[in-house]
Amino acid sequence: MVSDSFGPDAHDARIREQFSRQAKIFAEAPELHNEAALALLVEAASPRPTDETLDVACGPGSVVVAMARHARHSVGLDATAAMLAEARRLAEAEAVPNVEWRQGDVYALPFGSDRFDIVTCRFAFHHFERPAVALQEMVRVCKRGGSIVVCDAITSDDPSKAEAFNRMERLRDPSTVGFRPFDALLALFADAGLSSPEMRFFQVPAEREQMVRRSFPAGGDYDGLRRMIDASVDDDAMGSGTRRSGDTVLFCYPSVILSAIKPALCRQTCSGT
Ligand SMILES: C[S@@+](CC[C@H](N)C(=O)[O-])C[C@H]1O[C@@H](n2cnc3c(N)ncnc32)[C@H](O)[C@@H]1O
Repeated sequence: MVSDSFGPDAHDARIREQFSRQAKIFAEAPELHNEAALALLVEAASPRPTDETLDVACGPGSVVVAMARHARHSVGLDATAAMLAEARRLAEAEAVPNVEWRQGDVYALPFGSDRFDIVTCRFAFHHFERPAVALQEMVRVCKRGGSIVVCDAITSDDPSKAEAFNRMERLRDPSTVGFRPFDALLALFADAGLSSPEMRFFQVPAEREQMVRRSFPAGGDYDGLRRMIDASVDDDAMGSGTRRSGDTVLFCYPSVILSAIKPALCRQTCSGT
């Protein structure tokens, strides 16, 4: 199904363009889809055998398949057809039958209110121009008493380091709106009526050349991307622990998983009713 609502604007076009190109290579990134990485999110969401789960901006489907192993039924939604093709391939290869894939827009989820037991979103909020609306939609389609789980990389609290990190990321992937500091994600939860979320902090390791090979930087500026990463070595200018290792440079994406329960009495903005 092709979504009518995933719009024709410039940002939507950048998302489609980047993730159509990235789909295969992103699906193969072991540090994002290995068992340990997925186990962190599954642990935060705690799916039960009777649960129906939804993962928004599901990309190549690894979270959906991991959740489906514990849940009754798991749905993955994404705007990019090439990502959903990878997701279908993964579910078939892993012989996981209780999954469903939908093409659509996180700002207008094609589901009724109060339907899912668990709604997750991993490593996608930094692509959202309207993160509060995206979270509101996730809350709307979640049952009262169900779980909302958001995972994303976070920037340093130091604005200059955050800006340097986002400059590099926007060059590396022009569909990046911006990674946010931890407090900004926490504020999004509070504004959506989700108080006192549980938090799990972890790091996604990165190596410069592998990262460059997997990227489609603005204007094909691969050398510019290398220079930006290298420029962070001396003073950790991006706040991502950049350091030399032999011929290459290592760094990381500091990340957090926030999980909260949709309250029984949710504010009007939560339920959209
Ligand atoms: C970095 S990938 C993350 C994929 C997956 N969540 C994971 O952790 O492996 C970001 C995904 O967000 C999707 N996306 C971005 N904006 C979206 C929107 N407004 N609605 C639905 N999907 C969106 C892209 O198509 C892409 O597949």
